[in-house]
Amino acid sequence: MKNNHKILAVANQKGGVGKTTTSINLSAALAKKKKRVLLVDSDPQGNASSGVGVNRTKFARHLYHAYTGAFETNEIVIRTSVKNLDIIPANIDLVASEIEIISLDNREFRLKNILTQVTPNYDYIIIDCPPSLGLLTINALTASHSVLIPMQCEYFALEGLAQLVNTIRSVKRSFNDLLFIEGLVLTMFDKRNKLTHQVAHEIKQHFGNQLLKTAIPRNVRLSECPSHGQNIIDYDKNSTGAVAYRKLALEFLKNQKAK
Ligand SMILES: Nc1ncnc2c1ncn2[C@@H]1O[C@H](COP(=O)(O)OP(=O)(O)OP(=O)(O)O)[C@@H](O)[C@H]1O
Ligand SMILES: [Mg+2]
Repeated sequence: MKNNHKILAVANQKGGVGKTTTSINLSAALAKKKKRVLLVDSDPQGNASSGVGVNRTKFARHLYHAYTGAFETNEIVIRTSVKNLDIIPANIDLVASEIEIISLDNREFRLKNILTQVTPNYDYIIIDCPPSLGLLTINALTASHSVLIPMQCEYFALEGLAQLVNTIRSVKRSFNDLLFIEGLVLTMFDKRNKLTHQVAHEIKQHFGNQLLKTAIPRNVRLSECPSHGQNIIDYDKNSTGAVAYRKLALEFLKNQKAK
């Protein structure tokens, strides 16, 4: 795979596992490596939008309007304060898209078509998915080259993973035959916790080298920075969270070269 125009979905239907934190900070780390990055907020919660400092009340156009065709894609892209990082924002209106497209032709291909218009402008497009396997996630998987799966090291981490893998397989079969799993990334890793190591071991046994080498530690700075509308590298570049997300970006880039 060439190093440009790569589209990555960050997905796991489990809530609160670090999808948005990973989407924002991987995007920012890549942008700081001089890659042109578009972050796509595909979650009606709009956390990726507020997390990069896009104020929900101040933007009138967002992903919903691209789904309805009311605006062209380049009309909904917003520059963030981070150089090389743009975002397509979302808010609660996006809930309606999922319902409105149910009866439309090619409903699984809407996001793919939306992104086609702007894809040449970027090296990487990263899609933050909602915690469900509904049409928004199906659209993200159909539009993407690969999927990154954040996993929280907790007792029920593996529960639901089979369902996610089945969904990825069925999207691959029906809509996107080149789709593959980019990797699984452990989040909120607590090296002093025995359970963390047990879960990590179990994931490694199931997924082998699909488990990325970089684990993201639990770091309070990572939970603080969204309320400041900042990524972790700008918020506290020496924090363990910033170091980990920079490392994740390097591992990700290295894997691109190998593909
Ligand atoms: N490594 C970490 N260390 C500490 N806190 C974290 C870390 N990663 C995420 N968090 C916090 O955990 C919460 C859930 O993270 P996040 O919003 O990224 O998960 P999500 O999978 O996107 O959630 P949802 O399913 O609701 O979209 C947030 O409050 C976030 O700030
Ligand atoms: Mg989220």
